[in-house]
Amino acid sequence: MRPTIAVTRWIPDEALEVLAQAGEVKLSDADRPLMPEELRDHVAGASAVVSMLHDRVDGSLAEAGGPGLKVVANVAVGYDNVDVAVLAARGVTVTNTPGVLTDATADLAFGLLLAVTRRLGEGERLIRARTPWSFHLGFLLGSGLQGKTLGIVGPGQIGRAVARRAAAFGLRTVYSGRSAKPGLEGEFLPFEELLRQSDFVSLHCPLTPETRHLIDARALQTMKPGAYLVNTTRGLVVDESALADALEAGEIAGAALDVFEAEPEIEPRLLGREDVVLTPHLGSATVETRTAMAVLAARNVTSVLTGGQPLTEVRP
Ligand code: DGY
Repeated sequence: MRPTIAVTRWIPDEALEVLAQAGEVKLSDADRPLMPEELRDHVAGASAVVSMLHDRVDGSLAEAGGPGLKVVANVAVGYDNVDVAVLAARGVTVTNTPGVLTDATADLAFGLLLAVTRRLGEGERLIRARTPWSFHLGFLLGSGLQGKTLGIVGPGQIGRAVARRAAAFGLRTVYSGRSAKPGLEGEFLPFEELLRQSDFVSLHCPLTPETRHLIDARALQTMKPGAYLVNTTRGLVVDESALADALEAGEIAGAALDVFEAEPEIEPRLLGREDVVLTPHLGSATVETRTAMAVLAARNVTSVLTGGQPLTEVRP
């Protein structure tokens, strides 16, 4: 009997074709995240699960999969939705999709930085609202990038890709993270010092118990009054309510967020603010990147199901 591969949401045909080489694909046709009970039903008896970042993959899901479950391939580089230790203890391999989304996510982080500092959303809303306007020297002035300091929190692949873009814009780059990485161009600083020195702070650390609400009221107060915050990693790295307080109090100048604490919900006070740019988790959203992510996940599945090694395994 061919193994069953449960896919929890739409993936591109290229990835389905890879999966079909190794088993029978059972694809959810719901155009939404499955509820926990639906998810458990969907994976019952599966040898492999292709999961999305909105799926909670924990012991109860592994239990629902049953003893034949061999691999969970999460279609994301982040895997905070997966209880890797519990799955490993059950002998289930977990994989993610590093590398293939680095440039797309760095592009979006940079796009958000430009959007919030140059007030692009505000200008667009003004035009669409048919608000009368005319060019004048003081109109919708933003903040330039050249010669300023960009603080990158999390000098992993995406953080470093943002730094490469920053160099082209004449920014000085500083980093903070668990440890300095060899080959980093720019100064490695303690987190608080990075907040003190940076005109722009871009978050690229994974969500872990240590980084949950890393940007809290205190961190926001430590940032420069004219600073901007960009978040393209995970929403829970930022305390959204504290961010709204800080913006209301003028403690920082603006924020651009692609990810949210309880997606798709957003702290209501952020929605009406002109100094906030909001996008719906688009970091990796290009045709090329999302296809590459799904194909990498599918190749991880086929490799494990045919007795080979996973390509990009996550270990506890
Ligand atoms: C990831 O891969 O972790 C992103 O958040 C989704 O592209």
